[in-house]
Amino acid sequence: MAMAAVAESIQEDPDDKAFLEIRKWFFVKLPVKEIMKKKADWLKELCQEDQKMLLDHTLRSDICKKFPVAFDYQQKFVKTWIQLMEDNNTEVEDVIYETYTTLISAQSVIQEINYKTFLLPDGKELILEESVYMLSNGTTGLQIWPAAFWLAEWILENKGEFKNRSVLELGCGLGFTGLVASMSCEIKEYILTDWHVKVLQSLFSNLCLNLRLRKYDNCTMCEQCFQKFSSSSSENWDRACNVMKNGGMDKTQDGTILGSDENEMKSSLNKKEEAAVEVNDSRQENRNLEGSINKMSASDHGDGDVDCNIFEGDSHRNVGKNTAVDCFNKYEESEKVNKHLNETSRIHFASLDWEEKNSEIKVSVSPDIIVAADVIFEPKLISPFVETLKAFATNAIGDMAIYVASSVRSQQTVDQFVKEIDAAGFVLQEISGPSSEVFVYDRSCPMKLFKIETKSSVKENQLI
Ligand SMILES: C[S@@+](CC[C@H](N)C(=O)[O-])C[C@H]1O[C@@H](n2cnc3c(N)ncnc32)[C@H](O)[C@@H]1O
Repeated sequence: MAMAAVAESIQEDPDDKAFLEIRKWFFVKLPVKEIMKKKADWLKELCQEDQKMLLDHTLRSDICKKFPVAFDYQQKFVKTWIQLMEDNNTEVEDVIYETYTTLISAQSVIQEINYKTFLLPDGKELILEESVYMLSNGTTGLQIWPAAFWLAEWILENKGEFKNRSVLELGCGLGFTGLVASMSCEIKEYILTDWHVKVLQSLFSNLCLNLRLRKYDNCTMCEQCFQKFSSSSSENWDRACNVMKNGGMDKTQDGTILGSDENEMKSSLNKKEEAAVEVNDSRQENRNLEGSINKMSASDHGDGDVDCNIFEGDSHRNVGKNTAVDCFNKYEESEKVNKHLNETSRIHFASLDWEEKNSEIKVSVSPDIIVAADVIFEPKLISPFVETLKAFATNAIGDMAIYVASSVRSQQTVDQFVKEIDAAGFVLQEISGPSSEVFVYDRSCPMKLFKIETKSSVKENQLI
């Protein structure tokens, strides 16, 4: 059983720190050269038994079979390791050569999606599907960005701030920050939002993966959001549902998944090749999907006030707007939306486009806290983002705090953000980021964390 297998592999962790570290790095795709820098001396001298053990806890583990790390990464990892041992005259286990040979045959596979597995401080595992490309399908949201990790680390250090609060995330991408926060803090509810159809699909897969396939007691996915999204009846949603049904995307028809013997693995890779052809075909499908989403939205509401415009607007939005997956926006009247929020617990997700002025969600949801990571990157998007914050602040019932974490790639862009925030009547202060490192990611870019409040809430807090 998928759940049992995943749990089993968590418990089976080897004691040795080096095994654990390499396993942790492998599953988050730490660059192979970084792994070698840290552990080459240890890796090059492993006895054959330990070589097998390392392989069993990385490439041949249950998690990697079900939720494979990118094949090119796996291949590079094994190749570099073999080279290291050969140069050291260490006898290399046959199974390592076999694994490498099998991976070479995966080279031709177009792998658009791969997985990363993160270990949270309390031992929970978070598995996320991610695109292999930083920019794909016209969006930046199909990979986890550094500020998402950084903000998640800060949230883990400030759990009290989030206890029993209603949190809304803007431009959530694949859902990393939201899932960490929801799985680790006693949050009343967490509403993940993004606008891009592809991002929402992957987000849905990730929510299913972590909250339905593998359940954690303290964290549930809103059933209404789930039903609404999965009933949008497009084959594209099936991908996410298959993750749930099969306990992994790469399960073959006959039930084998990147198995531990070579034939099993090859058979699965062949299926992947077939799937790759389908990926190409599905590009057309994606375009159709937007049409079908559109139709669905219209028929779903039947009230004529559905925004049916797709393929409109400027270049960064040319993938089309997604309205069907939005279980708040134009789904019910605002009172019902609020009722829905109160009745069901924990994680909700919705489509929210900062550029859409009349978005229902902006007036119907009153979060206590808004968070956003790595959303200050495109000067054109700053105004609509700030306008969105303003809309939520205007409708806020009580005090609302906003936390924006950002990598500083361009000081000019950050300065523009600060200026627009000020002009919008907010008070902004830069606060300290996390003090400890929990996740493995590229920390080379400087980060800033801003706390943004309305002037009135700052005044009230000063009076207290
Ligand atoms: C650089 S990515 C960051 C994603 C995620 N927060 C992270 O840090 O991994 C920027 C995100 O903003 C979203 N985004 C861009 N334009 C948007 C818009 N007009 N409305 C809502 N979200 C938008 C993208 O879809 C993408 O997920």
